[in-house]
Amino acid sequence: MSNVFDVSGKVVFITGATGGIGKAVAKKLHSEGAIIVATDLNQILLDELVAELTDERIMALVLDVTDTKGLATARQVILDQYGQIDMVFANAGIACDPPQTVATMPTEIFEKIIEVDLLGVTRTVKTFLNDVIRSEGHILVTASIYAYLNGFLNAPYAVSKAGVEMYGRALRAEISGTGATVGVLYPGWVDTNIAKNALGGDEKASYLVKRYYKGPFGKAVSADFIAKEVSKGIKKRKPRIHAPARWAPLSAFRGLLSQFTDWAIDRDKKAQSVLKTIEKRDI
Ligand SMILES: NC(=O)c1ccc[n+]([C@@H]2O[C@H](COP(=O)([O-])OP(=O)(O)OC[C@H]3O[C@@H](n4cnc5c(N)ncnc54)[C@H](O)[C@@H]3O)[C@@H](O)[C@H]2O)c1
Repeated sequence: MSNVFDVSGKVVFITGATGGIGKAVAKKLHSEGAIIVATDLNQILLDELVAELTDERIMALVLDVTDTKGLATARQVILDQYGQIDMVFANAGIACDPPQTVATMPTEIFEKIIEVDLLGVTRTVKTFLNDVIRSEGHILVTASIYAYLNGFLNAPYAVSKAGVEMYGRALRAEISGTGATVGVLYPGWVDTNIAKNALGGDEKASYLVKRYYKGPFGKAVSADFIAKEVSKGIKKRKPRIHAPARWAPLSAFRGLLSQFTDWAIDRDKKAQSVLKTIEKRDI
């Protein structure tokens, strides 16, 4: 097996492909010669993406990642058209909007986030796993810095991202030696719709982000930046893509870091009072 994964001429299946990161990655890999299968919930946004990529080497399918039957149908459509599926980018996700605590979040919202963010990833990957193995391809799953940082106010999201990380790691080990590989993407703050509450859209959530994420760790990067890092990372079949790279040491030293941050949050009276006001507001 050549260790390099070159996307040129490869069929790349992407979920959440009309969102910030998904679209940027679709465009970047398309510019490198990939055949993109873009999937998301909204036909109009998919049509816009197809138009941007000038109809060439692109298929767009409306698909909900929680829908196992829909995934199986999509697989058949792709195989009928292209005969192979070389890469899966399981990237679709949602977050708590507005941010809520475990105590106040309705159970159906809590479970919906886990269904999309964790089970949506596992269902997507399972659908295409044998195809990717057959073509000695690559699977990239989108986790987050929330896989290893305290996820208060976004607990089901953090639960899911920690799960996605472990799913990616376990699967990489399980298919090692097949020629196919798995990587986990850990974006930091990215200027997209999903992060809008943390980045100014919700006064209290943004206050807490500013309180805990200082200097460069509070700054959002563009989706295009993430796409460049994804492109570099998948070429090397990297097991982990930390984007931006400044987060990598925090992940590496997460054991110590989380003991310290959990201790500090426990004693942070100001954060506790903000959490109480969030719990009292009408949603
Ligand atoms: N933006 C950030 O700061 C950030 C940080 C870390 C991780 N992430 C992760 O990156 C991924 C992409 O997010 P983004 O930043 O581009 O946000 P985004 O909101 O722009 O994109 C998410 C996309 O997922 C799609 N989606 C949601 N539910 C779906 C479903 N059930 N089936 C299919 N598609 C669905 C949405 O329609 C949207 O296009 C997500 O998994 C997110 O958790 C984002």
